[in-house]
Amino acid sequence: MDVKKVFVIGAGFMGSGIVENVAAKGLEAVAYDISEQQRERSRKSIAKNLEKQVAKGRLKAEEKDAVLDRIEYVSEISACKDADVVIEAVAENKDIKVSIMKEIEKYAKEEAVIASNTSSISITSLGSVFQNPERFIGMHFFSPVPRIPLMEIVRGYQTGERAIKIASDLGEYMGKTCILAQDEPGFIVNRMLIPMLNEACFLVERKIGSIEEIDMGMKMGLNHPMGPLELMDMIGIDVELAVMEVLHEEIGDSKYRPAISLKRMVDSGFLGRKVGVGFYVYHEDGTKEPNPKLLEIR
Ligand SMILES: NC(=O)c1ccc[n+]([C@@H]2O[C@H](COP(=O)([O-])OP(=O)(O)OC[C@H]3O[C@@H](n4cnc5c(N)ncnc54)[C@H](O)[C@@H]3O)[C@@H](O)[C@H]2O)c1
Repeated sequence: MDVKKVFVIGAGFMGSGIVENVAAKGLEAVAYDISEQQRERSRKSIAKNLEKQVAKGRLKAEEKDAVLDRIEYVSEISACKDADVVIEAVAENKDIKVSIMKEIEKYAKEEAVIASNTSSISITSLGSVFQNPERFIGMHFFSPVPRIPLMEIVRGYQTGERAIKIASDLGEYMGKTCILAQDEPGFIVNRMLIPMLNEACFLVERKIGSIEEIDMGMKMGLNHPMGPLELMDMIGIDVELAVMEVLHEEIGDSKYRPAISLKRMVDSGFLGRKVGVGFYVYHEDGTKEPNPKLLEIR
């Protein structure tokens, strides 16, 4: 595998997971985020995850230190100049992603492959920003990145074979099984998953079951490891809404209409685990309870 250095843009939930996974496999990882607070949060969350691995006996203390030493945090996107692969993982917003792509184009070396971890935005449209769109590809990871062994490789209409080869090699090196998806909204997994999660919001709105019963139904009845509401809290309610909006706008079918409650939750700041409140309220001691504000809705 030719990739030695991976530059990740956005050190949020996904960016941090990608950085941790890359460094754990012995590659150099650089994380850039505009927010200093996020960079600090990312650094702490990766250290905490690795400490848990040490406590469980899955990692030696000196290996943990070596992984952390391979991670660098930077405050300038221009630091991507010597990376072999640049992976964008900022908010699911096309305008923000396009402005990031323009910046990457300025600084990344010519032979670097540029990827987006977008959950739904067209890889062809993001790739059209580049003078050479053949270098651009979707590398769609799943959360939590270090633990979930799948990556979707998304081929835009202009993505070249070299980018597919390098992205697949890197994905496999990171321990992922790679599946190749065409550039349709939601690709393979989110085309099925995100509307199912949206449907769970309609069930909440109509009080067809309680928050806990809806989750219990899918866990006990279908053997899902997490209920749909727990899963949305982990993914981020804002991410769920943004992906539904792309599906609705691009495909146009009313079956992809985002639930009103999703919009109201985003407006209320109930964004899920990352802020401590979504469908559930998350306590410091690791326990959770249904969000009382949602129970008041009639
Ligand atoms: N959450 C998931 O489960 C999941 C799964 C697969 C893919 N994704 C995709 O990954 C991407 C990131 O999602 P997330 O859940 O990590 O979001 P997040 O909100 O946790 O993190 C986004 C980060 O981007 C940073 N950011 C915003 N604008 C920036 C800019 N202009 N320059 C640099 N940094 C900037 C923010 O400070 C934040 O740290 C989205 O495209 C999302 O659709 C998310």
